Amino acid sequence: MGSKLLCLFLASALLAYYIYVPLPEDISEPWKVMLISANMRTFGHLAGAAEQLGLMHYMDAFNLFACMDCVAPTSDENVTVTDTEFNGVAVRLYLPKKVSDGLRRAVIFFHGGGWCIGDAALRSYDLLSRWTSDRLNAVVVSVNYRLAPKYRFPVQFEDVYSVTKFFLQSSVLSKYRVDPDRVCVAGDSAGGNLAAAVAQQLLQDSEVKTKLKAQALIYPVLQTLDLNLPSYQDNANKPVLLKSFMVRFLSEYFTSDPSLVEAIASNKHVPVEASHLFQFVNWSNLLPEELKKDHVYTTPTYGSSELAQKYPGFLDVRAAPLLASDAQLRELPLTYILTCEHDVLRDDGFMYAARLRAAGVPVTHDHAKDTFHGAMSFISSPFNLAVGHRLLNRYIEWLNENL
Ligand SMILES: *[C@@H]1O[C@H](CO)[C@@H](O)[C@H](O)[C@H]1NC(C)=O
Ligand SMILES: *[C@@H]1O[C@H](CO)[C@@H](O)[C@H](O)[C@H]1NC(C)=O
Repeated sequence: MGSKLLCLFLASALLAYYIYVPLPEDISEPWKVMLISANMRTFGHLAGAAEQLGLMHYMDAFNLFACMDCVAPTSDENVTVTDTEFNGVAVRLYLPKKVSDGLRRAVIFFHGGGWCIGDAALRSYDLLSRWTSDRLNAVVVSVNYRLAPKYRFPVQFEDVYSVTKFFLQSSVLSKYRVDPDRVCVAGDSAGGNLAAAVAQQLLQDSEVKTKLKAQALIYPVLQTLDLNLPSYQDNANKPVLLKSFMVRFLSEYFTSDPSLVEAIASNKHVPVEASHLFQFVNWSNLLPEELKKDHVYTTPTYGSSELAQKYPGFLDVRAAPLLASDAQLRELPLTYILTCEHDVLRDDGFMYAARLRAAGVPVTHDHAKDTFHGAMSFISSPFNLAVGHRLLNRYIEWLNENL
């Protein structure tokens, strides 16, 4: 009896030790966040083991675990849900059942997951798209673009771009009874990166006649140059997106070559020939004082030109929308940006908001001080966060008022 109790005690202590991570005081629902973080770490350990054993690439294994929470396309009383293809790219399509006289709005959505993981069928993305469709009476196209490591940049971008172009054709818009003046692109994290890149590229595409009404960027990745921004320094070890994860995601977008991971991890991947690009991500000019705190801006350290020649994608504006010139930004549509305080990507969003505003683009920037990267994905059990619903409701409300 005594030994059983001791075992139980030791097991609980070990479990608590595994789950416990120190969190900022102001974070909402800290114990749930710890469970979420422990769950992610477990996936990470298992994926690492699968890779060590030579079974599969780390990211493929991670994706396999994540997609245990994928759901089939199931229609409900309000929304018809189907998996189909647009221009040869897989999409999950949400069509409202409500009969309406006029034309409807549309949201083209790109899921997150560091260009390597995620799926439109993940329960949280399925719910998000379903609710968006239902509450806005909008057509939602959630794109299953191809992922790294099997496909590298610019495949992810090209997939979402080709779906967007396909959908914006007047014949397709009228087939789905969509108002051409009320279409937006949206995405979270790496999906926010893709949405921002798509919105920019459309401006230069003479084949596309329909203009986007808006772009909604949820804790987006917007630059690849400086992974030592104050937000990277302040939040390097905070759940769920550790800096080391972000470094890995970013490099996998271009290659599995370990020399790129190492160069990005030490923030020495940009060659001196590209030094002029740093003006676009200069946090010393672009961040508000309260985020700079006691961080000191230092001149960038440059890396080998060889890496940039081999993998030019990481200096491409389609991977790093912050690298667009002011003149390019000027034409962008109405923008919604959500940032979270405890997120390595926080400052990407702040800098883009500052640059867009300076270029005259109307921006709504919501900053959630009490939460972390990815919070909007935790909107169903067992990891159901009130803050996730709060952010989601606010995003849908913004779309309802502006799209
Ligand atoms: C369908 O819409 C009705 C009315 O807005 C709502 O009460 C109901 O919860 C919705 N059903 C689903 C499955 O979301
Ligand atoms: C960044 O901005 C600061 C302050 O304006 C300036 O001193 C510095 O030269 C800039 N650095 C780069 C690389 O643009």
